[in-house]
Amino acid sequence: MSDKLLEVRDLIVHYETDEAVVEAVNNISFDVSAGETVGIVGETGAGKTTVGLSIMGLLPKPPAHMIQGSIKLKGAELANTAPEPRNLLDFEVRGRRKRLDRRLEKQYRTIRGKTAAMMFQDPMTALNPVMYVGDQIAEVIRIHEKVQGGEAVKRACGMMEMVGIQASRYKEYPHQFSGGMKQRVVIAMALACKPDLIIADEPTTALDVTIQAQVLQMIKELQQQLGTAMIFITHDFGIVAEICDKCMVLYAGEIVESGTLPHIFGNPKHPYTKGLFGSLPSLDTESERLLPIPGLMPNPMSLPVYCSFFARCASKQDSCMEGNPLLAEMEDGHLVKCGKA
Ligand SMILES: Nc1ncnc2c1ncn2[C@@H]1O[C@H](COP(=O)(O)OP(=O)(O)O)[C@@H](O)[C@H]1O
Ligand SMILES: [Mg+2]
Repeated sequence: MSDKLLEVRDLIVHYETDEAVVEAVNNISFDVSAGETVGIVGETGAGKTTVGLSIMGLLPKPPAHMIQGSIKLKGAELANTAPEPRNLLDFEVRGRRKRLDRRLEKQYRTIRGKTAAMMFQDPMTALNPVMYVGDQIAEVIRIHEKVQGGEAVKRACGMMEMVGIQASRYKEYPHQFSGGMKQRVVIAMALACKPDLIIADEPTTALDVTIQAQVLQMIKELQQQLGTAMIFITHDFGIVAEICDKCMVLYAGEIVESGTLPHIFGNPKHPYTKGLFGSLPSLDTESERLLPIPGLMPNPMSLPVYCSFFARCASKQDSCMEGNPLLAEMEDGHLVKCGKA
C-alpha cells in the first residue's frame, strides 16, 4: 500500500440536466499525504466544491455523474464510474451501477466522520436548527465511536471547550450562537472523531475578517495537534499562504498549476496564477487600483477544445488554439498546464 492518505486520479465529474451538460471537473489528479494541508484555490464555479463532494461520496446524483477516475482513501477505491444505462430498458447496466452505489454508500457510512469529514461554508446547512448544539456534536461521536450516551456527552463537552465554547452552552440552539460560534461548532463536529482527513470548503468565508482570522488560527492549531490532513478550499491566496503546505490552482475544472508554497508564491508559471497575484493588493507597490484579470471563466456548459484560459490570457499566442496542453512537471513537484510557460 502507498503512504498516500488520498489518491485522486483522472477524475471527471459532469452535472447532466435536460438542457445541458456542465463539465464541472475535468481530469484532475492529486495526492494528499497524512498530516499534510493542501489548498485548492479558484474562483466561483471552478469546480472546487465538486471535488470535495466527490471525495466524500456526497455528489447529488442525479444530476452529478462521475464519468471517469479513481478516488482512493487509505487504499480503498471509492469512485463509482460504472457505465451509465443508455436507455430506460437497460436494466442490467442500471442494476450493476445501483449495486455498486449501495456498496459504496455502506462503506462511506463508516468513513464519513471517522476517516474523512467535511466542513461546509455555510454553518446553517451543517447544523440542525431544532437540536441542541451539544447534542449535535455528541451524536457524531455516538454514531462513529460506538460509545454510550453519557460518555458521548462528556466528549462533546470536551470538544466544545477545545474550540473555545463553554460547555455550559451545551443546551442551546444554533440560533443562539453568533456566526463565528456556529462555525466553531461545525469545526468541533468535523474533528470530534479525529478523522485522518478534513475537507474544509471555504469554512471562514461567511465570517467577518477578525473572526475569520481567529477561526483559521484555531483550525490550524487543532489540525497540528491532532495530526489531521486537510484539503482547504478557498478563493483567497492569503489563507493558502497562512496554512497550506501545497496548493493547486483550479480553473474551469482543471488544475492549471500545482506545487509547494515556494513554487506557487515564489515562482508562479501559469498566466492565470500570475494574474491572480497581480490582482492581489500589495503594500509595496504604489498602484492605486487593483488589476483584475479581464473577462470571465468560460461557461462549463461549452468549454473550448483548446486551453480554457485562452480568452483571458495576457501571453496567448495563435498556437495556443491548437490543443489543450497537459499538466507538465516544470521542476520537482511543480506542475503547470501551459505550453508557453
Ligand atoms: N447540482 C448542480 N447542478 C448543476 N450544475 C451544478 C450543480 N452544482 C454545481 N454545478 C455547476 O458546476 C460547476 C462547478 O461548481 P462548484 O464545484 O460548486 O464550483 P466552486 O465550488 O469552485 O464554486 C459550476 O458551473 C456550477 O454551476
Ligand atoms: Mg464552492
